[in-house]
Amino acid sequence: MSAPAGRLGLYDSGVGGLTVLRALRAAGIDQDIVYFADRAHVPYGDKSDADILGFLRDNLALLASLQVDAVVTACNSSCAVAQKLGWPETPFEVLDLIATAGAAFAGTHYRRIAVIATAATVRSGAYARSIHAAAPDAEVVERAAPALVPLVESGAAASLAARDAVSEVVATLPRGVDALVYGCTHYPLLDRWFAEVLARDVTRIDPAREQAAATQRLVARLGIPPGGGTTAYFTNGDPGAFEAAVRRIGDPQARVTALVAP
Ligand code: DGL
Repeated sequence: MSAPAGRLGLYDSGVGGLTVLRALRAAGIDQDIVYFADRAHVPYGDKSDADILGFLRDNLALLASLQVDAVVTACNSSCAVAQKLGWPETPFEVLDLIATAGAAFAGTHYRRIAVIATAATVRSGAYARSIHAAAPDAEVVERAAPALVPLVESGAAASLAARDAVSEVVATLPRGVDALVYGCTHYPLLDRWFAEVLARDVTRIDPAREQAAATQRLVARLGIPPGGGTTAYFTNGDPGAFEAAVRRIGDPQARVTALVAP
């Protein structure tokens, strides 16, 4: 195997992965990052397991061709499916976002934990497994929120329609929930609405923090050298629309390279 390049790969169906990217940078990860948005297939969450596994395979093959040292997943739905059907073989390590998420609950006082996620993630039960590995006695309830990803992808995260959609999901949660997990990387982009709608004593948890901590450990263990801290964005969707979205959400200098959808 060739010497590590100081480059990490990250993928999502769209802009949701930007919340993981943000957490990586906040944690001081300074490797160069290649971000792939599979916008030709967004949203993943209401597709079949077989389709999502196919997208995952293609995303990992693409990142392999871009010679990354490791992949940090930023898409829960694909991790949920891979846990069920098996991870594709890769020449690098892949950090499973859901497998690391449960660590947020080790030694905490939360008793009734709600996870909101895509339909694909909820039907896998992967979050309950991950949380129970760290907090066996916690009660975990999972709810699918299929309306949210399309709202975020269309640039409507700040709209009243988004607030109403968040309200509707929150209304389905049982009483007494003390923590709410963003089980889809798009949802932290709606945090202002969750903060407004949820009861004050409910803690909002973004698994991206655990993923960033796991990335730090991986980088150290594999001896991946520091990079220049650059991010190169690729998409198989409309590059102009994606570039505008990335610039609006968090990286005003972003440049997006267009790829042909597989
Ligand atoms: N952001 C991804 C996730 O965490 C995918 C959402 C989607 O495309 O439905 O599940």
